[in-house]
Amino acid sequence: MDHQATGLRNHNQNDSNPFDMFNNWLKLASEKEPNDPSAMAVASVDATGLPNVRMVLMRRHDERGFCFFTNFESTKGEELLSMQKAAAVFHWKSIRRQIRIRGPVEPVSPAEADEYFNSRPRGSQIASSASKQSRPLPERVELEQRIAELEAEYEGKPVPRPEHWSGFRIMPLSIEFWDDGEFRTHDRLLFRRRTLESAWEQVWLYP
Ligand SMILES: Cc1cc2nc3c(=O)[nH]c(=O)nc-3n(C[C@H](O)[C@H](O)[C@H](O)COP(=O)(O)O)c2cc1C
Repeated sequence: MDHQATGLRNHNQNDSNPFDMFNNWLKLASEKEPNDPSAMAVASVDATGLPNVRMVLMRRHDERGFCFFTNFESTKGEELLSMQKAAAVFHWKSIRRQIRIRGPVEPVSPAEADEYFNSRPRGSQIASSASKQSRPLPERVELEQRIAELEAEYEGKPVPRPEHWSGFRIMPLSIEFWDDGEFRTHDRLLFRRRTLESAWEQVWLYP
């Protein structure tokens, strides 16, 4: 993927599909980024409106949205289930680009969650079954014991997906592309739509 060709200075205004641009940027990042090109920070808000943000791995995406997988009983799980809105940002230092996404979230279907869970290494399946993510862990040995118990319980058998482990899809109402420019004259192109069914509108923003 060509850095210059995919840059915002070469953007063709007739290219009105932000998912195509997203794919090109992710592909370029995958070639250049030393680790986790699909890592994104996901922000949620708690019941008081206080934001919370953490990194996750974006595992699948299509025109419906951007999916990641997690424990639904974690802090993020509870906040996203209750507020049903999220913001996310990808930042690729190696290519000096950023993509911001905002919109409502929905849980992925049980079939999508199963498909992804079944594709994970067995050790990750056991670990996600053992972890009470975001709860206090008085002693690390508790986690290690739980992992050992589950390993014994599922020896020679497939590890079932825990009911509280699934994925969220962030369905974008806006996707903003940010491309580094000389002396902070960055380029910013915002794609936005009023509803998930509306057509995308493109707006250039001051840096
Ligand atoms: C690069 C990176 C990728 C991560 N990917 C995930 C992920 O896909 N799912 C997940 O639940 N946690 C992931 N984590 C851990 C989260 O950042 C976080 O610590 C955890 O999910 C608990 O967050 P919460 O307490 O806000 O729910 C990742 C952390 C890093 C640094």
